[in-house]
Amino acid sequence: MFRLPLLLLFCASQALDLQISSVPAVGSDDVVRTELKDIVSLLCQLNNNQGFQKDEELVWKRNGALISLEEGNKEGRSSVCITPIHDDNDATFTCHLKTNTTVSRSVTLNVTYPPELSGSENITVEEEAELQLKCDTKANPIVTNTTWTLNGSQVDLVEHDLIVTEDGFTTKLSADFVRRSLHAGTYECSVSTGLYGEFTKTFVVTVTDKTMKFPLIPIIAGLVVVFLTAILAVASRWKKIVKCCK
Ligand SMILES: *[C@@H]1O[C@H](CO)[C@@H](O)[C@H](O)[C@H]1NC(C)=O
Ligand SMILES: *[C@@H]1O[C@H](CO)[C@@H](O)[C@H](O)[C@H]1NC(C)=O
Ligand SMILES: *[C@@H]1O[C@H](CO)[C@@H](O)[C@H](O)[C@H]1NC(C)=O
Repeated sequence: MFRLPLLLLFCASQALDLQISSVPAVGSDDVVRTELKDIVSLLCQLNNNQGFQKDEELVWKRNGALISLEEGNKEGRSSVCITPIHDDNDATFTCHLKTNTTVSRSVTLNVTYPPELSGSENITVEEEAELQLKCDTKANPIVTNTTWTLNGSQVDLVEHDLIVTEDGFTTKLSADFVRRSLHAGTYECSVSTGLYGEFTKTFVVTVTDKTMKFPLIPIIAGLVVVFLTAILAVASRWKKIVKCCK
């Protein structure tokens, strides 16, 4: 009955043994909010008034994997510098005593970044072939709104026989059977993010005539040879037959 409050009290005091400070600052939820390529520096410090040795060795881990620290950056205080990449989003950085992993503190990175979506691409596709337009929508926070337009107005999937598929990282617009009247034109995919605004990529799709998929000329040549051989065979046999009848 009385154990639980005691335990909580103990945990709370233990959390003060070590302290992580950060630039940019750590939020109340132990999250450090940053952007791609902005430098984050984390400093882990031992609180001297907790009865630890001043030069107690510290360890840093990223998602549980040891970060190698230089000599002189371990005793009593230790800092790490991070230039965040996409993968560092949601990564947890933990500092603990080398001799006692229970004395530990962690922060998690929230690395925000916009989707990589811009420019214009020219696409040429044959009539009756497959068309696939793809937009990279990966971003943090995730994009909230994706739209496809054709010649400036929202794509009518039914009328234009198109399919949209989204998986959180990409949005794809595809047609299984391209027809010039339905599918030639200028497409745009747009995504909006609360933090970074709107991003757009353009595709200019040209539909060309269908080309023959099988080698027609060799086939015709082959047929001609077969035909001529047959005629010759009949002709020579005809001579024999005619001879017999004489
Ligand atoms: C680790 O530290 C905690 C909190 O200071 C302490 O209660 C525990 O006994 C220590 N464990 C070891 C193995 O030293
Ligand atoms: C990360 O920060 C952004 C911007 O402040 C916020 O919208 C998003 O919810 C945060 N993500 C997490 C997982 O906390
Ligand atoms: C889109 O506009 C182009 C150029 O005006 C036109 O050739 C094409 O047929 C239009 N596409 C559709 C599907 O209406």
